[in-house]
Amino acid sequence: MQLRSLVRLLAFAPHFARSSAKLTCKCLAGAACFPDASTLNAFSANLSHPLITGQRPPASVCYPDDPDYDTSACSIAVANDGNPTYLASKINALQYTNFQALINSTTVEDCPYDVQPGATCFQGRVPPYAVNATTVSDVQATLRFASQHNLRLVVRNSGHELMGRAFGVGALELFMHNFDTMQFSDNFIPVGAPKNTPGQYAVALGAGVQWGEVFASADQHNRSIAGGLAPGGTVGAAGGWTLGAGHSVLSPFYGLGVDNALQFFVVLPNSSFIIANKYQNTDIFWALRGGGGPSFGVVVSTTVRTHPNLPYTVAFYTATGNSSSAYTQLLEVWMQQHNAISDAGWSGVWPFLNNTLYLTFFTQGVPPTSHTANATMEHFFAASKKIPGVDVSLAISHPYPSFQAWNEDNLVDSSKGFGFNFSALAPGAPRMAYSSWLMPRQLTTPTNAKTLAKIISNITVGLPFFVGGGAVSKVDPDDSAVTPAWRTTISDMNIVPSFAAGPDVDIRDVQKTAFDQIDPIRKLAPPPTGGQYLNEPDILEVDWQQAYWGRHYPRLLAIKKTIDPLDLLIVRKGVNSEDWDDEITCKTA
Ligand SMILES: Cc1cc2nc3c(=O)[nH]c(=O)nc-3n(C[C@H](O)[C@H](O)[C@H](O)COP(=O)(O)OP(=O)(O)OC[C@H]3O[C@@H](n4cnc5c(N)ncnc54)[C@H](O)[C@@H]3O)c2cc1C
Ligand SMILES: *[C@@H]1O[C@H](CO)[C@@H](O)[C@H](O)[C@H]1NC(C)=O
Ligand SMILES: *[C@@H]1O[C@H](CO)[C@@H](O)[C@H](O)[C@H]1NC(C)=O
Ligand SMILES: *[C@@H]1O[C@H](CO)[C@@H](O)[C@H](O)[C@H]1NC(C)=O
Ligand SMILES: *[C@@H]1O[C@H](CO)[C@@H](O)[C@H](O)[C@H]1NC(C)=O
Ligand SMILES: *[C@@H]1O[C@H](CO)[C@@H](O)[C@H](O)[C@H]1NC(C)=O
Ligand SMILES: *[C@@H]1O[C@H](CO)[C@@H](O)[C@H](O)[C@H]1NC(C)=O
Ligand SMILES: *[C@@H]1O[C@H](CO)[C@@H](O)[C@H](O)[C@H]1NC(C)=O
Ligand SMILES: *[C@@H]1O[C@H](CO)[C@@H](O)[C@H](O)[C@H]1NC(C)=O
Ligand SMILES: *[C@@H]1O[C@H](CO)[C@@H](O)[C@H](O)[C@H]1NC(C)=O
Ligand SMILES: *[C@@H]1O[C@H](CO)[C@@H](O)[C@H](O)[C@H]1NC(C)=O
Repeated sequence: MQLRSLVRLLAFAPHFARSSAKLTCKCLAGAACFPDASTLNAFSANLSHPLITGQRPPASVCYPDDPDYDTSACSIAVANDGNPTYLASKINALQYTNFQALINSTTVEDCPYDVQPGATCFQGRVPPYAVNATTVSDVQATLRFASQHNLRLVVRNSGHELMGRAFGVGALELFMHNFDTMQFSDNFIPVGAPKNTPGQYAVALGAGVQWGEVFASADQHNRSIAGGLAPGGTVGAAGGWTLGAGHSVLSPFYGLGVDNALQFFVVLPNSSFIIANKYQNTDIFWALRGGGGPSFGVVVSTTVRTHPNLPYTVAFYTATGNSSSAYTQLLEVWMQQHNAISDAGWSGVWPFLNNTLYLTFFTQGVPPTSHTANATMEHFFAASKKIPGVDVSLAISHPYPSFQAWNEDNLVDSSKGFGFNFSALAPGAPRMAYSSWLMPRQLTTPTNAKTLAKIISNITVGLPFFVGGGAVSKVDPDDSAVTPAWRTTISDMNIVPSFAAGPDVDIRDVQKTAFDQIDPIRKLAPPPTGGQYLNEPDILEVDWQQAYWGRHYPRLLAIKKTIDPLDLLIVRKGVNSEDWDDEITCKTA
């Protein structure tokens, strides 16, 4: 034996020892171990809605050879391919079709809408079985059944997640979208709180409620709430968003989603229905706040704080460089002011593409309650106007009586908006490759402005969220499971190589481009100083445990092993997934 092989063998010796034990696999649909029809019928009889069987990809209705072929159903499916509201309610669809496909280094098994003659609609990662859950008992029965039969179980809410964790090959899907209740309270007290604990303003959100509905309802109750932004308002409020951290343009005023979460109703992997808050099941409460869905149980409802319904001054800005050097200078001038603008009380988003930088920035009060807000923003406006070759086509501010008033005019009805047009430009269907990085404020200082401007000018499309700082930075980093990097970041850099990668390109190449474009930032601020928001994941991230959780990972792993010893709720790059293959089908060690 050559020396090199011997060294390699020795290096892997512990793995050989472990793998000599029987490797475990999940029991997938179609395999002999999968429950037979009568067992499935008995399970179905236990549910509020019949078990969905033989579920096919959404475009199957467009394939002449498919048993589901139906031309009118196909027209509807095609017309709604980019409609987030429609897709959120479709049990067999995700928001981005590439996560419905099974893609590895050698093979792509998908079911595209543009049907080529003779093409087959592959099942891909669309779960063949699904539970349309509407009760706690549905959730418990499903977890029990999946454990008993060693099934691959996936939990699906709005389907927005950017790494395909809500679907899985040969899986049983638990569809949570129909838990749609909202209960507002001005005197909420967590269960188990000591006597005389004062009540607070809060709302209990069912697992399927979406942010657009929450914003509208909160406004009707004359309250405000830190929630996510998306076209159609379709990102789920209580599920993946909160479980991963949850950022909002109101976070600098009110904290992250996890900082506002007061209580969870959750079904644990062993089917126990529990309440987790700061008085009971405190380890699980800590892990649910940032550990990522659905690793620590299936959430049925999340109770979050509501806040006073205040007016906002919103600054809108658009500037274009007539050359790449003018554009890079514009980015440099912006990066010089970046931290000062946060400290002056602003939050927002700063999308950039095609040599153009946009700002949509919020500060509380009309006029702003922060006395430095106006002058600091005006300083940036003025400095950027002096750059040769930069055309500042918009630099205004607009008063809104409430956050919802802004949301109505800029997202719900974008025709009344200013500046960056979320409806026209935000990531749309059908395919998506993504990357992101939490940039620590030590990186985004004026000293580094030139370096960062060069890196940023190299990124095709950026959608950075300026949602850290302020209240986010004041929370004890160990209070919840989110990476401590969240507490020192101001901008969460989000990038997409293109808004919706068409079928003509190989999505694996686009993923590689996303990884490469964020990489210089990743290298300047590696974990634990920087990190990645696990809800805005890079599918190629390598050191994901450190990137998502930093020093919190060991505690998360220990809790996970205690509450989910059967590995029922494991997802790709989720807590305790390291010994599983990428599809969470078989153990690799
Ligand atoms: C267009 C768009 C806009 C976005 N805007 C924002 C934003 O403003 N702020 C922000 O922070 N993020 C934003 N995100 C990212 C978003 O937080 C994630 O996509 C998140 O995972 C969505 O959660 P979901 O429950 O809606 O979606 P899903 O894809 O259905 O679920 C996401 C993950 O959570 C799990 N899960 C879902 N429901 C439950 C449950 N009830 N119990 C346990 N686990 C569950 C799923 O298994 C999956 O792993 C955006 C994403 C998109 C595509
Ligand atoms: C149906 O529910 C009953 C009561 O909870 C349980 O004992 C039984 O195992 C369930 N059957 C199936 C097939 O899930
Ligand atoms: C890729 O997927 C195909 C189809 O599922 C499978 O046959 C093949 O072994 C996979 N290849 C790799 C390298 O995982
Ligand atoms: C799922 O449940 C919802 C709520 O009860 C119902 O409106 C819908 O028709 C159901 N869908 C299917 C496919 O069972
Ligand atoms: C709504 O809340 C705001 C902020 O607390 C308050 O100033 C205002 O008076 C309230 N409006 C109504 C109609 O109650
Ligand atoms: C960006 O520029 C390219 C090339 O000029 C153009 O095709 C594309 O439509 C532009 N994108 C946007 C969103 O303006
Ligand atoms: C950009 O604008 C500057 C200043 O107006 C001008 O000197 C320069 O020629 C322009 N460059 C291009 C490429 O248009
Ligand atoms: C600053 O205040 C002036 C005067 O009220 C106003 O015209 C301008 O739009 C404000 N700028 C910002 C960025 O809020
Ligand atoms: C934004 O884009 C949408 C969709 O293309 C369009 O309907 C709307 O009018 C646009 N808004 C503005 C202010 O241009
Ligand atoms: C810009 O991208 C190119 C091509 O990917 C790369 O060679 C170069 O180093 C990048 N520049 C910076 C500053 O990141
Ligand atoms: C379910 O798991 C929780 C957390 O590990 C544990 O406290 C509880 O005793 C378990 N319940 C049952 C019935 O085993």
